[in-house]
Amino acid sequence: MRYFIANWKAHKDFSEALSWIDTLLNKVRNDTNISQKLENDLIKIIIAPPFPLLHPIKGRVAQLKNIFLAAQDISHFNQGPYTGEVSAKSLSGIVDFVIIGHSERRQYFNENNQMLREKVEKASQYHIESIFCLRNEKDTLPKNANIIAYEPVYAIGTGNNEEPEKVLEMKKKLELSPGQKFLYGGSTNKDNASSYLRRQEIDGFLVGTASLDPLHFYQILSLS
Ligand code: PGA
Repeated sequence: MRYFIANWKAHKDFSEALSWIDTLLNKVRNDTNISQKLENDLIKIIIAPPFPLLHPIKGRVAQLKNIFLAAQDISHFNQGPYTGEVSAKSLSGIVDFVIIGHSERRQYFNENNQMLREKVEKASQYHIESIFCLRNEKDTLPKNANIIAYEPVYAIGTGNNEEPEKVLEMKKKLELSPGQKFLYGGSTNKDNASSYLRRQEIDGFLVGTASLDPLHFYQILSLS
């Protein structure tokens, strides 16, 4: 099973979100190769829009097997008096996945290892699966994080993707268990995706910039 995750970050409004999902679904439905892979559990597509755009596209996402929604973050608090926070309880029933520990959250919102561990716990209490981002082997990997996205900071949004060999070296250092999925993120696009997909040890991508255009994201899926 390979994962293709579209991380929109803080992009798109309501109508852009609907247009994105309609375009992608239309392409996927008319593509026998991708449709069969979804049907046979060979690939999962996970879309991570900003919070307010999750619900508007949920009905459409539910139309096809193996297409899911992810939140881009989750509160480390339970429900309660935390204005502005989005708790695991609020997200349950809306998303199946959540991205936790993205380097942008660590950098701009000072998220630390303790908070990230709590976020993973809260998500798992509500049966939301964490996609845990690591910048390097020094970042602590919490228990219950079964999908790991390795994203070297210098490669994010720079066009400077890390070579597959280096990505695999990092995987070795992490000493993951066989059940843990290992994804790569950092300037993946339609031109470099197949060099990673050739390696069975890489279980998919967390895609930022190239996921903003549904046709570009679809081209990456086509390489699966
Ligand atoms: P990028 O972003 O594909 O634009 O490098 C990846 C990410 O930050 O998840």
